[in-house]
Amino acid sequence: MRVALGVTGGIAAYKAAELVRVLQDKGLEVQVIMTRSARRFVTALTLASLSGRKVITDMFATSGGEPNVESAIEHIAVAQNIDALVVAPATANTIAKIARGIADDFLTTLCLATRAPLIIAPAMNVNMWENPATQENLDILRGRGATILDPDEGYLACGMTGPGRLASVETIARALFVTLGIREDLRDEKVLVTAGRTEEPLDAVRYLSNRSSGKMGYALAEASRRRGARVSLVSGPASLEPPQGVHFERVRTTEEMAEAVFRHLDESSVVLMAAAVADFRPAESQNGKIKKRDGFSTIEVEPTRDILAEIARRRRPSQVVVGFAAEAERVLENASQKLREKGLDLIVANDVTREGAGFEVDTNIVTLIFPDGREIPLEKMSKLDVAKRVLDQVVEMKSRVRR
Ligand code: CTP
Repeated sequence: MRVALGVTGGIAAYKAAELVRVLQDKGLEVQVIMTRSARRFVTALTLASLSGRKVITDMFATSGGEPNVESAIEHIAVAQNIDALVVAPATANTIAKIARGIADDFLTTLCLATRAPLIIAPAMNVNMWENPATQENLDILRGRGATILDPDEGYLACGMTGPGRLASVETIARALFVTLGIREDLRDEKVLVTAGRTEEPLDAVRYLSNRSSGKMGYALAEASRRRGARVSLVSGPASLEPPQGVHFERVRTTEEMAEAVFRHLDESSVVLMAAAVADFRPAESQNGKIKKRDGFSTIEVEPTRDILAEIARRRRPSQVVVGFAAEAERVLENASQKLREKGLDLIVANDVTREGAGFEVDTNIVTLIFPDGREIPLEKMSKLDVAKRVLDQVVEMKSRVRR
């Protein structure tokens, strides 16, 4: 989702930097627009570096003395491409212009040109805030459906005390999430996710493993965090960047993964076992490298710990436990059997032989299966969307436990 953040001139303009970070953390793309006076308080470079994109500062940026046609119509492009527009901090002057439909810079022109919902977080001197002109302008904007986030009371930069301080970054972000329909419905949950594959060494260079990129598990961790959960991600080898804001533990073998999982199990309210755990390990593992000339014709293997089966024995009923089943045949039947045997609340079954599903790809085609036999087949979608659908079910189960 894309949002525009309008920054106007005031001491609180520096807080826009923190706001950009919080919004990006939720996976939002942020286009910053600064008024001329905003740039006296914070540099465009700061906000461009944080948002990772050019900050729009001028209505008619010039290239070689000539007005740049691209930038002249840019406000229309931005206006059409955003899901919400936030003005924070909003000065009395900008509020007045937006309320009266004056469009004399990029930000106010954008306000006039967009149909996206508008959120305004005013910050100003207390007398300016209390002035009937400002209050009347705010009433006009409220009447048109804008969300106005009243300023906090406190000591103001002008030396006076009263309402006028910009609402907290958290308040502004939360109002935006409500507007965009981004839920924080996992705020009270502690989610444990496993991802990637485990590797069982045969010697110093060789190992037994499974195919798995870790993408599904990392998507689950990312989606859980965006919905407000505290997340621990236990990952086997995977060449992915751990999502920000997630407690991350790297493991290699099944035994190491089991140890990490059982360290976190008690404190976790939701367990999502997306890892492709190696089911067997070589009965003997050599420290050095086995030389080809010495040869070996058979590898003796022994079973590894079945982490999920152990969780089933040790879990509390209030914990929600989700397993994954990557199958190549009789997909639903095999997955349902695992659901029963491992005492799961939900299993996510996928047929790894189908195109657009399974290993290394960014999409998946899965069916959600529940203990009461209910099945929800999902169409092909990104792994992040699969993660969201799984989490919708987790939230539903959690609310049933509470009822
Ligand atoms: N799993 C686990 N520990 C293992 C093997 C699997 O925790 N040693 C978990 C996986 O993370 C997954 C679920 O169990 O959530 C199903 O994994 P899968 O390998 O498909 O099932 P298995 O029980 O190993 O059955 P099989 O390999 O025979 O299909």
